[in-house]
Amino acid sequence: MGSVTAFQFWDVFVVLLLLDPFILANQMIRDTPADLQKKASTSGLRVKEFLQIVAQHNRLRSRVKPTAANMRKMEWDEQLASLAKEWAASCHTNHSHQLNSSTFTHIGWNSRLNPHGVASFSDVIDSWFEEGKDFVYSSGQCRQNATCQHYTQLVWATSSHIGCANQLCLKEGNLWEIYVCAYYPGGNWEANGRLVTPYKQGVYCSLCTSSMSGCYRLWDHVGGLCEIPRNPCRMSCGHHGHLNVSSCKCKCDAGFTGRFCQVRCSVRCVHGHFKEEECSCLCDVGYGGAECTAVM
Ligand SMILES: *[C@@H]1O[C@H](CO)[C@@H](O)[C@H](O)[C@H]1NC(C)=O
Ligand SMILES: *[C@@H]1O[C@H](CO)[C@@H](O)[C@H](O)[C@H]1NC(C)=O
Ligand SMILES: *[C@@H]1O[C@H](CO)[C@@H](O)[C@H](O)[C@H]1NC(C)=O
Ligand SMILES: *[C@@H]1O[C@H](CO)[C@@H](O)[C@H](O)[C@H]1NC(C)=O
Repeated sequence: MGSVTAFQFWDVFVVLLLLDPFILANQMIRDTPADLQKKASTSGLRVKEFLQIVAQHNRLRSRVKPTAANMRKMEWDEQLASLAKEWAASCHTNHSHQLNSSTFTHIGWNSRLNPHGVASFSDVIDSWFEEGKDFVYSSGQCRQNATCQHYTQLVWATSSHIGCANQLCLKEGNLWEIYVCAYYPGGNWEANGRLVTPYKQGVYCSLCTSSMSGCYRLWDHVGGLCEIPRNPCRMSCGHHGHLNVSSCKCKCDAGFTGRFCQVRCSVRCVHGHFKEEECSCLCDVGYGGAECTAVM
């Protein structure tokens, strides 16, 4: 998945305009009905694909105009992905309110039904983002007769988790593909009949909350997204140690030493502690011997 350029947006837009079902009704279908049925029953995203979906969302979210001060980095969520899969299996784009989830109280949805083979998941996500051209940030409104709710969900600042699915659908002998993404917490909230602004305008990361005070920057340093701050020590301890983030040192469980607590020792230091990288004891004052058991 390459970087998103204005040209690609334009291509996608043109492609989608050409996708009028009307035109495609005349498309030649070479597969037999049995082939189609078989195709329609196999689908699902592979790991590489969902990593690309999250990366694309984060890239687009970090590039909104005007710039966002409180946009959160998104993460993949398997439970959301299975809810999206449940919806996709219905092959309807209007299914949302029937799904029930005890874990998630408010889920946002984006979906698209396209003729099979004309657009990738990445194209669909770009087309949702493209709706942003009709969204006027200053008034918080979509231009008249335009659709913006896929865009506003995609760039909803507090939506931090995403799960998506696609599915081939057989409808009246033609093969379609449905794309569904579930977002949590869901966006597109309204207050007094008006859409709440999807994000706060300002310098990147300037309004991240304290628990999300980290600023995730993409490799090309365009934009920034709020995330849980990275471990400032830039290290982690082994299974037998705990990182002290103020000293950036590992505190090892009994019987372990080493910078990362990776060294298992057979001796014990009864009244003392191990030297940093080896299993020999430094005894407390008043003790001696290999395991610091001798009173001096
Ligand atoms: C969704 O739309 C289809 C046709 O457009 C309709 O048959 C179906 O009942 C709708 N489902 C819901 C849940 O509204
Ligand atoms: C949704 O879940 C709640 C509680 O888990 C249940 O009471 C309700 O009947 C469910 N609704 C549907 C449409 O399944
Ligand atoms: C919006 O759609 C309505 C009905 O189709 C039409 O009368 C109106 O002129 C449209 N407005 C704009 C700004 O395109
Ligand atoms: C972490 O290291 C600091 C500085 O060395 C020390 O004062 C503090 O007690 C340590 N905290 C824990 C939980 O060991």
